[in-house]
Amino acid sequence: MTTDPRAHFGGPRMFQLGAAATIAALFWAAGCGGPEPRDLSSAARQDGADVSLQKACQLADRRCSHCHPIDRVLVAGVREPADWENYVHRMRLTPGSGITAREEPAIVRCLVRHSFGAQVRR
Ligand code: HEC
Repeated sequence: MTTDPRAHFGGPRMFQLGAAATIAALFWAAGCGGPEPRDLSSAARQDGADVSLQKACQLADRRCSHCHPIDRVLVAGVREPADWENYVHRMRLTPGSGITAREEPAIVRCLVRHSFGAQVRR
C-alpha cells in the first residue's frame, strides 16, 4: 500500500485497469442484448430455480471453472441433454478434475436445465 495520493491516478497500472474495463464493457454490450448471467448459479437464481437446482449449479460453477473459465461451458454448443452427460463425464475423467462420480448427476442436471429449460425432466 502506498500513501502517495498521486499514485492512485494515471500511470500504466491505471491504464491497464481502464483498458480491461473498456474491453469488459464492449463484451457486455456485444452480448445478447441484455444483462446475461455470468455463471450457472446466477442464471439459476434469475430463473427462480429451486434450492436444490441452485446448489447443483453452484457445484457446476465451482467444478467446471477449475481448468477453464466457466464461459467455456456457457458457450458450448450442445444439441441434446446427452451432450452434457458426455461432456461432464469426459471432464470428470480429465486428470485433476476434482469431480467425483457422485457429483456428476447434479452437475449434468444443472447444465441440462440451463440449456434446455424446465421441460426436460431429470
Ligand atoms: C481437469 C480440468 C478440467 C475440468 C475440471 C473441466 N474441464 Fe472442460 N476442458 C478441459 C480441457 C483441457 C479442455 C480442452 C480440451 C478438450 O476439449 O478436451 C476443456 C474443454 C471443455 C469444453 C469445450 C470442448 C469442445 O469440444 O470445444 C467444454 C464444453 C467443457 N470443457 C466443459 C466442462 C464442464 C461442463 C466441466 C465441469 C463438469 C468442465 N469442463 C470441467 C479441462 C477441464
